[in-house]
Amino acid sequence: MTGETPKRVDMEKIVSLCRRRGFIFPSSEIYGGLSSCWDYGPLGVELKRNIKEAWWQAEVQQRDDVVGLDTSILMHPRVWEASGHIKGFADPLVECKRCHLRWRADDLNSDKCPTCGGELTEPRQFNLMFKTFMGPVEEKASTIYLRPETAQGMFVNFQNVTNTTRKKLPFGIAQIGKSFRNEITTGNFVFRSREFEQMEIEFFVKPGTDEEWFNYWTEERLNWYVKLGIKKENLKLRPHTRDELAHYARACYDIDYLFPMGWAELEGIANRGDFDLVQHASLSGKTIDYFDDETKERFVPYIIEPSAGVDRSLLAFLCDAYDEEPDKEEIRVVLRFHPGIAPIKVAVLPLSRKEQPVALAREIYADLRQQWSVTYDIAQSIGRRYRRQDEIGTPFCVTVDFQSLEDNQVTIRERDTMNQIRVPISELKTTLQAKLKGEELFVLPPGGKIWKEER
Ligand code: GAP
Repeated sequence: MTGETPKRVDMEKIVSLCRRRGFIFPSSEIYGGLSSCWDYGPLGVELKRNIKEAWWQAEVQQRDDVVGLDTSILMHPRVWEASGHIKGFADPLVECKRCHLRWRADDLNSDKCPTCGGELTEPRQFNLMFKTFMGPVEEKASTIYLRPETAQGMFVNFQNVTNTTRKKLPFGIAQIGKSFRNEITTGNFVFRSREFEQMEIEFFVKPGTDEEWFNYWTEERLNWYVKLGIKKENLKLRPHTRDELAHYARACYDIDYLFPMGWAELEGIANRGDFDLVQHASLSGKTIDYFDDETKERFVPYIIEPSAGVDRSLLAFLCDAYDEEPDKEEIRVVLRFHPGIAPIKVAVLPLSRKEQPVALAREIYADLRQQWSVTYDIAQSIGRRYRRQDEIGTPFCVTVDFQSLEDNQVTIRERDTMNQIRVPISELKTTLQAKLKGEELFVLPPGGKIWKEER
């Protein structure tokens, strides 16, 4: 993390690539789209799944102090009273008296409408929760909300989890799921939308150990991005100032990423103290606390909360991976994804349309897809096919040629270096496996060679 400003990619290039190659489309596009809502296409959905899977693996599967949960989007309305969202989850809204456009007052630098210069109304507090009605009667008593964060589902289940898992402090609950906020200003592609996904951990600790755990999780979460290929110089930590802190937070760090529009929040890590459990105990009338077997103390745990956005992470991974390099008269566009999150891991490309190499290629394709998401492409020249795979970030292409029929070897071509190696088909899977793990293992067959792609 340095103070310098590294190279940034244009957002238009990312948006255009996402549309062109089927990562992300505007929602309900044939009806003109729905503002700030997005649909993930065939490649986008794979990328998103890989990001969520990498998070789940690192923060749940590979730890013995975090368990998972999947709670409902609709919750009892009193949850949002206890959490402070009904009263306090609001932004100051102003409206232009001339063109009636609405703005977030704290986003504006002047008191005239940025679009038409008209006079603005006084700010009023606008609650960001989406309201709907439960059951067939649309009346105030049946008003419920779409959750604006996944966190509350984990707080209200704290006692269920401790009772059923017998987890001892410190331990965490993790959840991935959709959240909804009726944001006044949206934009910057999937950075701020009204429907989005969160990956949140609520980590319960003994009061007094909270600062230590706050630091631990900050480092852990920063490193998660770095391990998945985000460049260190594009990340920085930003502590919240006292007047910026949310009503529940004792301390908060934002992990900021250098997005195309500048530095902006990717994830927040908050020390929420005992605010949430105390509030829910008070409004529900239920006891919510923890009994320490060793010290025989009963207390309300403090909570450290690393809260990440799936869509924002996906945008950061896309921007960070995007690269252009001169290639003859053209530009080679490459998404240099970490293999772990690349939507497609391997492309199988027969060099000829003749029956035998095609049959062998299809056999290899069928075998590899048992393990990874693999694509098969026979259309156009091999150069064009490589470029298509580069543009969507496929780390490896496997080509099958006539020689393969004789020597039972195929070529692996690497996206980043464009190096090619020839390996026996019998070793293809283990070679790819090592390479996909990022292990720099070159398993060369006897007499095998490495060469550069013709440019
Ligand atoms: N439970 C704490 C919480 O929700 P937050 O800072 O409001 O904290 C956490 O949100 C993360 O959720 C953000 O860092 C961001 O990645 C994501 N997020 C929040 N609002 C979003 C929006 N409107 N669109 C996309 N992602 C959003």
